[in-house]
Amino acid sequence: MDYELIRKIRENTDIVDLIGKYIPLVKKGKNYFGLCPFHSDTNPSLSVSREKQIYKCFVCGEAGNVFNFLMKYENISFKESVRLVGNEIGVSIFEDFKRVDDKNKVYYDIYDIANKFYQNNLLSKEGEKAREYLKTRNLDMDTIKEFQIGLSLKNRDTLTNLLVKKGYDINTLNNLGLATDDYDTYINRIIFPLFNFNGLVNGFSGRIFNGENINKYLNSKETPIFKKGENLFNYHRAKESVRQDKFVIVMEGFMAVIRAYTIGVKNCIALMGTSLTNEQILSIKKLSNKVYLCLDGDKAGESATINNGKLLMDANLDVKVIPLSDNLDPDDYILKYGSDKFYSLISNAINYNDYKIKVLKKGIDFNSSNDLANYINLVLNEISLENDEIKREIMLKNLAKETNVWYNTLEKKLNELLSKKVSVSKTNFKEPLVKVKKFDKYEKTLQTIVYYMVSNREVITIVSNSHIHIPLDSYRILIREITYFYEKYGYINIADFLTYIEDNKELKDLFSEILKLDIEYSEDKKVILDYLKVIKDYNVALEIKRLENLIKNEIDPNEQAKISNQIMKLRIGSESND
Ligand code: CTP
Ligand code: MN
Repeated sequence: MDYELIRKIRENTDIVDLIGKYIPLVKKGKNYFGLCPFHSDTNPSLSVSREKQIYKCFVCGEAGNVFNFLMKYENISFKESVRLVGNEIGVSIFEDFKRVDDKNKVYYDIYDIANKFYQNNLLSKEGEKAREYLKTRNLDMDTIKEFQIGLSLKNRDTLTNLLVKKGYDINTLNNLGLATDDYDTYINRIIFPLFNFNGLVNGFSGRIFNGENINKYLNSKETPIFKKGENLFNYHRAKESVRQDKFVIVMEGFMAVIRAYTIGVKNCIALMGTSLTNEQILSIKKLSNKVYLCLDGDKAGESATINNGKLLMDANLDVKVIPLSDNLDPDDYILKYGSDKFYSLISNAINYNDYKIKVLKKGIDFNSSNDLANYINLVLNEISLENDEIKREIMLKNLAKETNVWYNTLEKKLNELLSKKVSVSKTNFKEPLVKVKKFDKYEKTLQTIVYYMVSNREVITIVSNSHIHIPLDSYRILIREITYFYEKYGYINIADFLTYIEDNKELKDLFSEILKLDIEYSEDKKVILDYLKVIKDYNVALEIKRLENLIKNEIDPNEQAKISNQIMKLRIGSESND
């Protein structure tokens, strides 16, 4: 890629503005802070520097420039991130560049062809029955087009034949789940394409439509581009609306999401019938901190709400529930009660904790003191799980009012419970592990030297002129690259150097590690001489050690004397340098 162009794009983009579009940032001192999207963050630990045009998280250690942020946030390649940032400032590059990592490109191509094929089938003569079925489900042509709904044919080899004729290997089709034992996987089903977070088709879900007695939905198997535990239906389409509405609605199935879309509720995603995974929770977090659960209104949906809600609460998300009546799912509910009723359900969504208490209350006979006592104990237990003291008090007051039990009695009970709970366990949601690396004195010194070099070009000259030997290979290479960058472009800064080493994973990891350290930089260039001295002494100490070993193995007394002389000189030299 054209480095100069990339540099221009970066220079004309402000990292604070760009990241600010994704997460709210607040200015504190010189830097801007926000909740880090790369781990489950409670206190704003992502710091963005306008001056340096880099970001870093003090907790999980993620660090980089604008491109690195987008790569990580949008899960895209470097090139694609450059294209995106370029678009923001009206520079259009890589016209033919698709948002695909090259390794999997052929897989996405195949899925794309299959998707178009299925869509055409639905519109063809053979699609008549399926179209009728979709009509009975109240899905009009616009919706069918928007969600790219299609149809797989009755013949067992139509798709495989087509793709093989186009030159794709049948084994690839088997591996991708489009074929099973060399024949079409999807036979006579309505096809709902599944998309990855960037909007590329990466799987299918096929639904029966003529009452066959086989499993209702047939979903893609795990493939290099489809991971069931990571996918969320409609994620890519919902992104924009979620950012506008500032909350995301999570539903169980995709018919529900599609129905909500038809009445203009476009900030919905679906779990596809499973319970939330850590990966999905992190992805949801990237969309929004506010999650509304709108699962099916039956018993199963109720416990799924309780369970998934807990997972989301544990990830520090703000969770609300949109409860549905009559065992209905959102699709049925909207069809039965109309869109206005549904909108008002959304505006009246209730807090997760309140929902949980509401569920506990079901079937309780408030006239029976036994039932009542049971209920009170269950609710108190719930309240004790709440970490926010104010929320606890509100809940306790509600309980007192509701049960006519004296507030102080309840409070006493609650305090007993709280004292028993040494710590509230937040077990299910796993934070990405933060590697705490220990560095010895010399490595720390090398890290500081590197940091100074990328912060001030004069330091590069000082280091070059010192002709110092850098004892660790990785740092030697890194320092050589910094010097080379400066010689080639005549300037240095962290943000551009990051771009420069983008392709070199080892260097990039090493450099990112250094950025995480929060090294204090001083304009005083003499400081760097002290650091160089530490490395020089280290080199001397190493050399002395080597010579001492030589002496041990030397039998000739003359040679021994020579070496010992050398050692002496080294010792004196290093002292006189002070
Ligand atoms: N599901 C599945 N396999 C099944 C049943 C369900 O993968 N045999 C997944 C689908 O992703 C489905 C979701 O679980 O969207 C919810 O299931 P369900 O409520 O039964 O389906 P609906 O989305 O309501 O679809 P429909 O109204 O067409 O029955
Ligand atoms: Mn349904």
